Amino acid sequence: MINETPQWHALISHHEELASTSLRDLFSADPDRAESLTVEVDGLIADLSKHLIDDVTVDLLVELAEAAGLPDRIAGMFRGDHINTTEDRAVLHTALRLPRDASLEVDGQDVIGDVHGVLDHMAQFAEDVRDGTWRGHSGERIKTVVNIGIGGSDLGPYMAYRALMAYRHESIEARFVSNVDGTHLHQALEGLDPETTLFIVASKTFTTLETLANAKSARAWLLDGLGADESSIAKHFVALSTNAEGVAAFGIDTANMFEFWDWVGGRYSMDAAIGLSVMVAIGPENFHDMLAGFHSMDQHFRHAPLRENLPALLGLIGIWYRNFFDWPSHAVLPYSQLLDRFPAYLQQLDMESNGKRTTLGGEVVDYETGSIVWGEPGTNGQHAFYQLIHQGTTPVPADFIGFLSPDFDDIDHHDALMANLFAQAEALAFGKTVEELRVEGVDESLVSHKSFPGNRPSTMLISGRLTPYVLGQLVSLYEHRTFTQGVVWGVNSFDQWGVELGKVLAMAIIPELTEATAPLEHDSSTNALIERYRKHRMM
Ligand code: F6P
Repeated sequence: MINETPQWHALISHHEELASTSLRDLFSADPDRAESLTVEVDGLIADLSKHLIDDVTVDLLVELAEAAGLPDRIAGMFRGDHINTTEDRAVLHTALRLPRDASLEVDGQDVIGDVHGVLDHMAQFAEDVRDGTWRGHSGERIKTVVNIGIGGSDLGPYMAYRALMAYRHESIEARFVSNVDGTHLHQALEGLDPETTLFIVASKTFTTLETLANAKSARAWLLDGLGADESSIAKHFVALSTNAEGVAAFGIDTANMFEFWDWVGGRYSMDAAIGLSVMVAIGPENFHDMLAGFHSMDQHFRHAPLRENLPALLGLIGIWYRNFFDWPSHAVLPYSQLLDRFPAYLQQLDMESNGKRTTLGGEVVDYETGSIVWGEPGTNGQHAFYQLIHQGTTPVPADFIGFLSPDFDDIDHHDALMANLFAQAEALAFGKTVEELRVEGVDESLVSHKSFPGNRPSTMLISGRLTPYVLGQLVSLYEHRTFTQGVVWGVNSFDQWGVELGKVLAMAIIPELTEATAPLEHDSSTNALIERYRKHRMM
């Protein structure tokens, strides 16, 4: 396992040497550190200087990645090797953004031809909805698109729809329903007219309980509202899936299905057909700009040497903190209201990918894997949880994300936003010492309360403006950061067996809730909870 390699042991020793060095020390030893530790990739700037690293750290981390075989694994992923070994599948989300003139054949499939065939189908449909060619059953134009999906079939498109608000079609709104809690669909349908509503049922497998329950209820709402028969469904329901049989069984014509393939993981699918709601909202051209941003970062990840490779460096620095400092969590703090769902999106990307305890070889690891990913946009988070990040007992490495230009020009708060962004990273890194407080004449009884330890590391990601292209770069950056960590930890970042048990148990419990006399054979706690619910249900 990776923690038995000399490279891992070299990092343990290096950590012991560096543990007593502070960011203040590192900056005074090398005043040009910000310059030498800033990486630029196609206009995206990453300042890594406020990390507890020096040249030796980077060298050792790169050696660790090489020992884990990262360069070969990158090549294998892009080539279409079946690196998702537990499901015997290729992992080719990077092919979703290859240009039309590229070529890639995997397992006998002309991947590029198929990808662009579906993108063209999506573009035609999106244009038709946007210009009113596609109309509802009664001939009305579509005003609202409701995406019904969950996990990767919701978080990516929802995040991107919100992030690219500035590019939206002015008279088409998208709404997103994921939770099986009926309240979610109830809220999403509020104020909608069935005649002008189009449902996009997004499910890779087309077997997901939440999505099928919501889609079924949406269909009933539509038929009830239109007072029409099943033939009206064709104008108000389309599906995004890999499962044509499931789509047909649900009653959606497969001519209205946008396909993708088993080599696209759910959490890696926002630029496959799962992005249809986004394409309808922002238009095919902007969607293609987003794909170009993804592709640009893909190319960088595929070809840049590891020492200059931004996704790899970010992944390795994350490992440095997770495994050698033993810091379990990672905050993502976008100073952009439009990225308010970005941390939630990254939670699935990262935690469903690397929250694993078994290596590819089937051994249970004896080192930590996966991080707890969380965050909120700044400056909101500053007034909520930053207290813990500044003065709590366990440091939380953070990614700050900011943009030089605001999204909208009518309200000018951008200087205040950016000042807060820069100030937070500065305060976290350098803190405020007891001596500084005493010089300022702070009352002795408050000195320890008011001192900030500093030495709390962060990445600062800066770009010009949040465009579709830049969003594509950012998402691809995090996809490959996640991949890098999975490779070093030796886990399969592309399966998710850990979500299955709860699903199976829920399916067993559903009939037990409705049949008052069904025998219960769970533990005493679960039995009592079910009994309580049954009693309430019968009242
Ligand atoms: O249960 C987890 C999961 O399988 C995710 O990996 C996936 O993104 C989500 O459910 C939704 O799956 P589907 O797109 O097949 O409905």
